[in-house]
Amino acid sequence: MKKINIAIDGPAAAGKSTIAKKVAAALDMVYVDTGAMYRAITLAYLKSDDKDFERLLQDIDIRLVADNGQRVLLSGEDITERIRENDITENVSYVASQGAVRSFLVELQQQMTRDKGVVMDGRDIGTTVIPDAELKIYMVASVEERANRRQLDNEARGIESTVEQLKEDIAHRDHLDMTREISPLTQAGDAIEIDTTGRSIEDVTAIILKLASDKL
Ligand code: C5P
Repeated sequence: MKKINIAIDGPAAAGKSTIAKKVAAALDMVYVDTGAMYRAITLAYLKSDDKDFERLLQDIDIRLVADNGQRVLLSGEDITERIRENDITENVSYVASQGAVRSFLVELQQQMTRDKGVVMDGRDIGTTVIPDAELKIYMVASVEERANRRQLDNEARGIESTVEQLKEDIAHRDHLDMTREISPLTQAGDAIEIDTTGRSIEDVTAIILKLASDKL
């Protein structure tokens, strides 16, 4: 079977990681959640007294471990759950707007996709990280639906939130991600848009698997 890369981009909480994980499992591909990498750097940034990004990145040790999804280690410590908390979500778009942070992570992500066989989700995957990906998806959903889904997620994780607050936070984060100077969130010209509003995880996964089968 031919090896391909699949890029899945879109705004916050559109269902990218849930679906990307399922697509990767079905096709025996490696799943990479790049948002978790920006979140890991945000945690390191918040913990550090030195707020210089260049210096922070010199010593950073982020590792991704495939585990029925992806676990994230920062200097050997498992921070998979920690990076979903509110302080990280509130600060991640600022950290992700820094040129030094983006160059560092894009380089790392490009190394991971060099041998193909990767399903990668994020904001700039189809436009910047893997512009030659064989399949590019741009996943969207209404703010209401995204806030409701995130609320259920948060409840399961024991993170406090309200749907109203989540709607505001999601819209604000999208705005920051879409208007930043370097690699803003935007749909690649050759990406296929899928609106997941009112669609089940299974439906959307099936649509992407069908699109992928045409490339394999
Ligand atoms: O996907 P997730 O919501 O966890 O991403 C967290 C944040 O990381 C985004 O809001 C965005 O600021 C940043 N990000 C990015 N580029 C990516 C992935 C995530 O700028 N490829």
